[in-house]
Amino acid sequence: MRQEKNRVFRLEDYRPSPFRIPESHLTFELEPDATVVRAKLLFERADDTRADAPLVLDGDELELIEARLDGALLGADAFTAAPDRFELKAPPASGRFTLELVTRIVPSRNTTLMGLYRSGGNYCTQCEAEGFRRITYYLDRPDVLSVYTVRIEAKKSEAPLLLSNGNPVENGDLGGGRHYAVWHDPFPKPSYLFALVAGDLGVVRDRFTTMSGRPVELGIYVEHGKENRAGYAMDALRRSMRWDEEVFGREYDLDVFNIVAVSDFNMGAMENKGLNIFNDKYVLADEETATDTDFANIEAIIAHEYFHNWTGNRITCRDWFQLCLKEGLTVYRDHEFSADQRSRAVERIADVRTLRAHQFPEDQGPLAHPVRPRRYREINNFYTATVYEKGSEVVRMIRTILGPDDFRLGMDLYFARHDGDAATIEDFITVFEEVSGRDLSQFALWYHQAGTPSIAVTSNHDPKRGELVVEIEQSVPPTPGETRKRLMHIPLAFGLVGTDGRDVTYRSAEGATVENGVIHLRKRRHVIRFSGLNERPALSLNRGFSAPVTLTLEQKREDQLFLARNDSDPFSRWQAFTKLVSDALIDGSRRSRGQKPLEWPADLLQLAGDIATDGKLEAAFRALTLSLPSEADIAREIGSNIDPDTVHAARNGLVFAIAQANGERLAPVYDSLADMGPFSPDAASAGRRALRNTLLDYLATLPGGKERAAAHFTSASNMTDRAAGLSVLAHRHSGTEQAEQALEAFEARFGDNPLAMDKWFTIQAMVPGASTVDRVRALTAHPAYSGNNPNRVRALVGSFASGNQTGFHRPDGAGYRLLADVVIDLQQKNPQLAARLATALRSWRSVEPQRQAKAREALLHIAAVENLSTDVRDIVERTLA
Ligand code: PHE
Ligand code: ZN
Repeated sequence: MRQEKNRVFRLEDYRPSPFRIPESHLTFELEPDATVVRAKLLFERADDTRADAPLVLDGDELELIEARLDGALLGADAFTAAPDRFELKAPPASGRFTLELVTRIVPSRNTTLMGLYRSGGNYCTQCEAEGFRRITYYLDRPDVLSVYTVRIEAKKSEAPLLLSNGNPVENGDLGGGRHYAVWHDPFPKPSYLFALVAGDLGVVRDRFTTMSGRPVELGIYVEHGKENRAGYAMDALRRSMRWDEEVFGREYDLDVFNIVAVSDFNMGAMENKGLNIFNDKYVLADEETATDTDFANIEAIIAHEYFHNWTGNRITCRDWFQLCLKEGLTVYRDHEFSADQRSRAVERIADVRTLRAHQFPEDQGPLAHPVRPRRYREINNFYTATVYEKGSEVVRMIRTILGPDDFRLGMDLYFARHDGDAATIEDFITVFEEVSGRDLSQFALWYHQAGTPSIAVTSNHDPKRGELVVEIEQSVPPTPGETRKRLMHIPLAFGLVGTDGRDVTYRSAEGATVENGVIHLRKRRHVIRFSGLNERPALSLNRGFSAPVTLTLEQKREDQLFLARNDSDPFSRWQAFTKLVSDALIDGSRRSRGQKPLEWPADLLQLAGDIATDGKLEAAFRALTLSLPSEADIAREIGSNIDPDTVHAARNGLVFAIAQANGERLAPVYDSLADMGPFSPDAASAGRRALRNTLLDYLATLPGGKERAAAHFTSASNMTDRAAGLSVLAHRHSGTEQAEQALEAFEARFGDNPLAMDKWFTIQAMVPGASTVDRVRALTAHPAYSGNNPNRVRALVGSFASGNQTGFHRPDGAGYRLLADVVIDLQQKNPQLAARLATALRSWRSVEPQRQAKAREALLHIAAVENLSTDVRDIVERTLA
């Protein structure tokens, strides 16, 4: 594979490219075992000061057949060509020339899913971040923008469909059973946005008229026979296009917009200009085979990729250190879209749960890195929760600081000023400083400094002076390579909640800038005096999770209970409830470890029941609140010396206690939510299903619960309810006849539907307890499983390693060994997927010593493999460091 395995790329080493490529003309002669790529590239020297510098192009596993300069065949002494590099020794002095390079590649043997590869008998490409160099020699870097014209030739019978970026120009017959199509993309783009798809696919078509009245042909391509599962994605696409016009004033810019669903894909989807390529998991859905979560994910990812057309494509990144420029911003945009399409509060709670579940452990472990990293060995390993989710939070904070109007002005300026640019984070921050007149230099640390800031808060009310005194202190823990941290600018939204649940107004606030319901922390310590408060209000802090921090708030328990019931901000109610539950669970884990009986505060059990049965609250909110913090969440809160078995015992104990204390109230709510009428994937209907399924999980722990769950499963009329029933049976009544029968019935019904079978694999991989390791290993031999398909691997092994605390962390290390075996088996075939799986071991230092030793062994076992791919080596070495 690649050479220079230990090369480190640094932000400060960035230099502009010495050459530009204004035009790229590519011809593909597609054959599975030997595809010929003819690249005719127009070069221009960009930097006169290096007039004699050679031209060096990137490659990866390429075979050069022929090279021509301005039409003339090049002799062997004029260039050097290796699989990973092409050098033209003496480019013409004029600095403007055409280089024609003919290379041969082998799509059928490409298992990395980068470059041109085969999926389901079709050809497709994946070029971000550095896959284009597996197609032809090129300046494969995001700041080299080129106008592409692409001609595709293929056997008609094998590939009736020929797609690339931009607009279709012409097509026709070639004789001998072959045909061709030509595509032209007028928008200059970096190579990572190139795409080609060829094959035999079904299509769903629609049409969209943009705000200025331009018609756009929309197409979603899927495997034949799956067209009827693409309707929801099409609907989501149309809604995304309209939303971006209405909320950001962004209009689509080509005559066509195509989406292709493929079944072998390393990530969720890819925003190639005019030709998005999707993991089919995020396109295909109907009630029979997809859950409400799948529908919501499809909506979000369709929107995300579409939104990239402006944030990513029209304005791209100067270099890969700027990845968050497109990703953080685009995640922010898709979160806002989902919030507008669904329930804002519910969306925010779900997003914050995801952030805390994925980004916080990353930021608090060995793989921590700034939102804009300064160095990397393998860029593939930086498509992380920090770049995406924390990157989105940073954009959200900019909006919190500026307010909606200035934020929109800043975005408008960003689009106007940088359209067509390969931009940087500095460019992005500057537009907001300019429109608002604010100094964001301290705020910019959010991009540059890794680690989750922690905030410690105490408050005291002085009735005589009518003052509430709030003391706030910030600190940022050290992270790898960054031992000393600087003070951050942290916007903390807050409310002072009066006895009637409404926010009270204070006369003045001193000690920090406080504006529009936001406290701006800039110093290590602030003592803030709110005056004009004769009665003591309850402090509601970090409302809406305005800043991604960990908060230690010394607060009276009565205040927490009060806020959980009465805060006007639903997010804060959820936050207050979750805090109470977390504290109880941490205490429960401690008791369980000390072999003491579990005890739960009666007021908490009562509160849970009240929320479950409160018809004034949105069903989805009640469901989210009642789906308690996961075992991984609790472990993260505990922080160190974790014994996952005691965490599991505590969480189960609390679920049982809530069910016991409230069972008589819960069952009628469960019954009242029974599926009625035809299926609709809308948020309100999904919320009712979510609440009913969450309640089932509680009720299943009571007498008759197994039978209830079995009936729930059998009578389910959609996948959401069916999968929930199966999961409750398999997890709460593992090994029983009912659970086994349900698993068999599911397999019999969906055995030939890979995406549905993924759910079946995941549910089994998540069965708590020591024996699941063996079950997972056995399932890797199941006919529906394939170690080559990323979705299968993630559904079975990925969910086991990252979602099954008791199984994965089996004290004898068998779970870690299983993961290591799978990583080692995959690491050459698909380095990217293998590396991502390996990150499941990133929190190894927070488990108790015996397990820690076993986890370390597994990591060392991987590290000892000869010829380890750069991707995996990078993750394993940083994890062990
Ligand atoms: N850029 C893609 C997205 O965020 C993610 C991706 C990265 C896909 C690398 C494939 C490879 O939408
Ligand atoms: Zn993205």
